[in-house]
Amino acid sequence: MKILVIGGGGREHALAWKISNDSSKPRIFCAPGNAGTATLGTNLAIGAADVNAIAAWCAGNKPDLVVVGPEAPLCAGLADKLIAAGIKVFGPSQAAAQLEGSKIFSKAVMDAAGVPTAKSASFTDCAQALAYIREQGAPIVVKADGLAAGKGVTVAMTVAEAEKAVRESLEKNIFGDAGKKVLIEEFLDGPEASILALIDGEHVVMLASAQDHKRVNDRDEGPNTGGMGAYSPAPVVTDDMWPFIREEVFNRTLRELKKRGIVYKGVLYAGLMLTSKGPKVLEFNCRFGDPETQAILARWDGDILPALIAVADGTLKEKYVRWKTDASVCVVMAAGGYPGSYKQGEEITGLPAANRIPGAVVFHAGTKLDSGRVVTAGGRVLGVTAIGATVREAVDRAYEACGKIQFANAHYRRDIAWRALKTAE
Ligand code: AMP
Ligand code: GLY
Repeated sequence: MKILVIGGGGREHALAWKISNDSSKPRIFCAPGNAGTATLGTNLAIGAADVNAIAAWCAGNKPDLVVVGPEAPLCAGLADKLIAAGIKVFGPSQAAAQLEGSKIFSKAVMDAAGVPTAKSASFTDCAQALAYIREQGAPIVVKADGLAAGKGVTVAMTVAEAEKAVRESLEKNIFGDAGKKVLIEEFLDGPEASILALIDGEHVVMLASAQDHKRVNDRDEGPNTGGMGAYSPAPVVTDDMWPFIREEVFNRTLRELKKRGIVYKGVLYAGLMLTSKGPKVLEFNCRFGDPETQAILARWDGDILPALIAVADGTLKEKYVRWKTDASVCVVMAAGGYPGSYKQGEEITGLPAANRIPGAVVFHAGTKLDSGRVVTAGGRVLGVTAIGATVREAVDRAYEACGKIQFANAHYRRDIAWRALKTAE
């Protein structure tokens, strides 16, 4: 079997790694991939958002399945284009991907479906948005409607901060078209959790829970990032929450999409705030999370391709998805300066020693090969992942592996999974 993975981050290395370990021994191609995926198959010199080049490659090479990592190509209609050409795809249609591509669309679906979520209003007019903020008061959350590379959300603790965010989006156009509309939302409080589900248009199979660490520094301090680490399972998601999340979040959303003539196929990621009044949806993503995927797939037991193919075919069953009892932890090693500006091209050493730690696997994110050396090529450089019989063991192994790796000005959080460790005590 020939599998094409679209994307070049840590999530895609984890997907390619898991797929490459399937018993069917598939051949892996990645567009564009990174230095990690290069060890599993062939990297193609095609950007993840280059829908036409991907379609052209597929027409010539006829992969058995295309697994799409990032949101941008899905929102640009990659799945529709490939399906029309007779290529099997894991990933939703453009219409379904709007759940991530437009926060206003997503909220409209949730409100119509009765999905628990923050109260909100949307605006294109700056004066009206400012008046709404003054009326509601702070804390309050301002979100650019469209895709803004993870930078479109401002959790404003003061009215002035919220006003600034609205002006930057609607008047100064800092997010371009993605920020021409804003969603202004009630502030919610509580621990967050990521719940992902595979959906084949009809059947929903929920994946193991995970928690991401968004702030750059220990104790959840400093600016937001794409994610500095993750672990699975997340004990904050208690047994009683699962049926609620399945019914009130996933089933309701799917029924409402169907009413609108939209069928969802792929993975749907619900970012949840576990408030004192129960779980509420902060956002939907139309793809796997990064770095949650690194932690989740480390725990996936057995082959993954039968599940991904069944999603595309509409034949998904619970039995395709099984979990190891181990816990997993992914620690992101980032470039100095990230999430601000950072240098690239620093040589990375110690990867083989890190991969030899029992239970550990190093997923590459921002890396590339340069004359046979692995060098940094992004802000989030590596996702150092480990499983263990307990969360303590997984954490210790992941940090032992981090200790084997060197690159100039590397930084990483030392407290990934602290909440799970506290629960386990
Ligand atoms: P999003 O991209 O929508 O997930 O937002 C990024 C982050 O902003 C989330 O992970 C939360 O930490 C925070 N956030 C988003 N919406 C809210 C909200 N309504 N209340 C409090 N925090 C929020
Ligand atoms: N880890 C957050 C995301 O993938 O959006």
